[in-house]
Amino acid sequence: MEMENRIKDEFSKRFGAEGALYASAGRINLIGEHTDYNGGFVFPGAIDKCIMAEIKPNGTDKVKVFSIDVDDYAEFGLEEADAPEQQWARYIFGVCREIVKRGGKVGGFDAVFSGNVPLGAGLSSSAALESVFAYALNDIFNDNSIDKFELARIGQSTEHNYCGVKCGIMDQFASVFGKKDHLMRLDCRSMEFEYFPFKPEGYRLVLVDSVVKHELVGSPYNRRRESCERVAAKLGIETLRDATMENLERIKSEISEEDYMRARFVIGEKQRVLDVCDALVKGDYETVGARMYETHNGLSKDYEVSCEELDFLNDVAKECGVTGSRIMGGGFGGCTINLVKNDLYDKFVKTASDKFAQKYGHAPKIYDVVISEGAHKC
Ligand code: GLA
Repeated sequence: MEMENRIKDEFSKRFGAEGALYASAGRINLIGEHTDYNGGFVFPGAIDKCIMAEIKPNGTDKVKVFSIDVDDYAEFGLEEADAPEQQWARYIFGVCREIVKRGGKVGGFDAVFSGNVPLGAGLSSSAALESVFAYALNDIFNDNSIDKFELARIGQSTEHNYCGVKCGIMDQFASVFGKKDHLMRLDCRSMEFEYFPFKPEGYRLVLVDSVVKHELVGSPYNRRRESCERVAAKLGIETLRDATMENLERIKSEISEEDYMRARFVIGEKQRVLDVCDALVKGDYETVGARMYETHNGLSKDYEVSCEELDFLNDVAKECGVTGSRIMGGGFGGCTINLVKNDLYDKFVKTASDKFAQKYGHAPKIYDVVISEGAHKC
């Protein structure tokens, strides 16, 4: 409510009118990391942290937008040459352009937005920002004629073409399709998905945010993707979705050690997602947790997207007897996702906070995961 009121106050102060309110969520991912751009499976859900925007057409060909959290204003036109300077505004500009490129309509509008998705925590604040604008502009200017998958793709293309990140589809998909109390298993090759009710009896999901964001010099995310693409090309397949460990072993001597390690992680991760789905159906959370630790290990050793602080948090979780724990999202900082038995919860949160603070001089942030709705009109 507080966020909504702040947005409304700011909007009426700046634009002297009232617009329509929309929101779209950040996401968690239970398992299936760096598999989306490899045609594999992911298992995300939207969370109760969102970006909310008030928007109103202004009858001009200009977008006028204020970010409460950055405390910054941007104004831009809708032609390709009108890209704004500010990075945060490029997400919105990109969404407008991607709608136009697909033959959709976007006119000028006024907007104010704010959010409570922590930045740089691996919870996809940028996908939430893209999705809330894609969803709203579809409603306002296009009679909702753009389907939801295309809205997710609009966000993804925005990252590719306006923000320099060759991301997969998971974050935007989760932000648009999220459903309360449900995770979604998405097959990123066929784009078929299934909602899984997620209310683990006796367990809680908690995020421990290291509040560390490592500088992404030289686009390490994009380089991971390139490694996977090189191995797939070598195997003569479209994506690593179709690769097996045996295939990989066969070409081991023809690829770099680094590419080999990246592919080994992705091929293993594909199976882990399927194992977790089976285990969830049976209520076997021990297996879910075991796979989460394996994923962390692979992300840390083979994919090399973890960092000292997150490996430390993972070790603490293990020492405390937490059922499952792993780094979540793209990596290079951010948070761990932990599957914790109810009666261990308090002890784990306290131990992780104390030990981390002692070692790194600042406390981590703790977020309880509440699986919530994706993009919607408020
Ligand atoms: C980022 C990307 C996603 C996905 C994850 C890793 O969040 O935006 O597409 O690749 O990293 O699973």
